[in-house]
Amino acid sequence: MNLKDHIRGIPDFPKPGILFYDVSPLLANGAAWKAAIDELAEAVHPHKPDLLVGIESRGFLVAAPLALALGIGFIMVRKHGKLPGDKIAHSYDLEYGTDTIEVQSDAVKPGQRVVVLDDLLATGGTMAAAINLLRQVGADVRAAAFLVELTFLNGRDRIDVPSISLTAYDE
Ligand code: PRP
Ligand code: MG
Repeated sequence: MNLKDHIRGIPDFPKPGILFYDVSPLLANGAAWKAAIDELAEAVHPHKPDLLVGIESRGFLVAAPLALALGIGFIMVRKHGKLPGDKIAHSYDLEYGTDTIEVQSDAVKPGQRVVVLDDLLATGGTMAAAINLLRQVGADVRAAAFLVELTFLNGRDRIDVPSISLTAYDE
């Protein structure tokens, strides 16, 4: 299976000059999606996670089926104001302004091994923030994994754990 056959580039979204890599066709194709999750399962398994983490929202699409494939649970890192109960928040800088992500305080037991999932690695800001947040609740973050990596944005340089991606674009 060639993953790129199921990912389309949509020009000028969400802003002029940006080429958006859309994974909707991959999700819509049962055989291709299963092959992608199987490939990710093989790459993530050696890191021996106790739990997976999905980053809202497209990271959930990847983390949930992967957790089932590996026979483990998954937890949610959500955008500000979406999670009930005791939470830990982490704010990080964007190109313009800041963003805040949250996790429930009891989501991870101290020292539990986690692998963090998202659909796409661009600048790495989202993943670096999620890793920072997870460490604040005591997680042992073993790896980050993605369907797609945009290598020309060098996001990997901002992530201090092994980074797995199934496919990459260099422009
Ligand atoms: C996109 C994508 C990653 C992030 C990658 O999410 O799903 O989470 O951007 O960018 P970065 O590496 O530069 O941080 P987005 O914030 O658009 O929201 P969504 O997942 O809810 O669609
Ligand atoms: Mg996202």
